[in-house]
Amino acid sequence: MVHKGIALPVEWMEEVINLVAERLVVVDRDGIIKYMDSAYCDFLDIRPSHSIGRHVTEVIENTRMHIVSNTGIPEISSVQSIKGSEMIANRYPIFIDNELKGAAGTVIFRNPQEWLDYSEKIQPLLDELNYYKRRYTKENSSKYTFRDLAGKNKAFTAAKALAERGSCSQSSLLIIGESGTGKELFAHSIHHNSTRSRFPFIRVNCASIPEHLLESELFGYEEGAFTGASKGGKKGKFELGHKGTVFLDEIGDMPLPMQSKLLRFLQEKEIERIGGQMPKAVDVRIIAATHRNLEEMVNEGTFRQDLYYRLNVLKIEIPPLRERKDDLMEIANLLLKKLEKKFFRQNISLSKSTEPLLLNHSWPGNIRELENVLERAINILDGHIISAEHLPLYLQDAAVPAPVIGNPPREEEPVKPLKETMAAAEKEALERALKKAQGSKQLAARLLGIGKTSFYDKCRMYHIKI
Ligand SMILES: Nc1ncnc2c1ncn2[C@@H]1O[C@H](COP(=O)(O)OP(=O)(O)OP(=O)(O)O)[C@@H](O)[C@H]1O
Ligand SMILES: [Mg+2]
Repeated sequence: MVHKGIALPVEWMEEVINLVAERLVVVDRDGIIKYMDSAYCDFLDIRPSHSIGRHVTEVIENTRMHIVSNTGIPEISSVQSIKGSEMIANRYPIFIDNELKGAAGTVIFRNPQEWLDYSEKIQPLLDELNYYKRRYTKENSSKYTFRDLAGKNKAFTAAKALAERGSCSQSSLLIIGESGTGKELFAHSIHHNSTRSRFPFIRVNCASIPEHLLESELFGYEEGAFTGASKGGKKGKFELGHKGTVFLDEIGDMPLPMQSKLLRFLQEKEIERIGGQMPKAVDVRIIAATHRNLEEMVNEGTFRQDLYYRLNVLKIEIPPLRERKDDLMEIANLLLKKLEKKFFRQNISLSKSTEPLLLNHSWPGNIRELENVLERAINILDGHIISAEHLPLYLQDAAVPAPVIGNPPREEEPVKPLKETMAAAEKEALERALKKAQGSKQLAARLLGIGKTSFYDKCRMYHIKI
């Protein structure tokens, strides 16, 4: 090792390197190790002769020396995990006569005790940081993929196919569906399948954020923008979602003034924090969802027409569960698998007798309602088979065929006044309920979904003996 005219014996150089606090490795442009000091070799349990000439990735864990020797860009104070410990690494490109020749890298540790002291202080902080990093990534990334969307129903698979195609586009997307049909699942899957999947998926529930907070939630604010504003300001959801997807759930509940601001953002693709001076370009894709009828809202003047058109570039309509009964049992079984995990149970199945009950119901709460029904059943289940008695009463009753009033009506039979027909139906329903409840008035009233007093009143009115 000779430096332009100053000769320093090689042994001296070696000793100097051993004395300083950092360990040293030198690689050429291809990442091949040219030098590694002996203490570093000791630490890695390798003989110096075995390190020289090998690619640095084969010798040092998590190294980036081969990258720095290639890009010429230094990396200072990065954290590198070696043998289960975090170390501070500095990596410098080596330029000789302006030409990139390789890189020199140092890691800090002088002796085991010093490293241990340092490690004890730093390690808990790094663990904490990693925990929050993992949590952040988990919360702001998509959890579901198209594979999680069960169902073979025609209208449903058409919606799924459209969503899959739409995931490749950058246009805004609108998901329409009743409550519990899987709108959020669709939004996750679309993000997951898109080129933005490595970037955040940010969900905003427009219905749950108070109106006066929605603007700062979406656009963020600068320090001192208002009393109580956090120090350093706060990023809004659009800024957080940069390069990713922002899912505006329950968009139908967004107040009109915010709709205007959202429209401006969609047109300009720029945000301005509250109290901020400079607009900032933000690249996000918007997926909006609602269970409301936006067209009706546009007609009523409660939803901006121009915003509706902006969002409605791609519209996906998820059919309600009652229109996809052919998928019901498949979904129910899939949900059971999910619930088994949640409750640490195994091999739970639905008995055949539950099938007509599940199929007869109209499921106003859609898949979420089905999930709740199954969760409730598992909670009261002793064995492994869910049967009719584990289902809520309103479902148990669904199997009862529509009451036939008197004799089956024949074409030639005169049409009776509606009041009379309804009274006959009511009387029959009361009798059937009493029979099914084996005389228990309380249960009969429950089966009918009416109060006990009203049940007694009606029985008296129709002269039913109780
Ligand atoms: N196709 C599907 N296959 C399996 N599970 C589904 C499917 N669609 C929805 N689910 C499940 O149903 C539940 C409701 O779905 P999600 O939250 O996406 O509905 P939503 O339309 O956003 O409802 P809401 O309007 O109430 O917010 C979730 O637990 C989800 O996992
Ligand atoms: Mg939802």
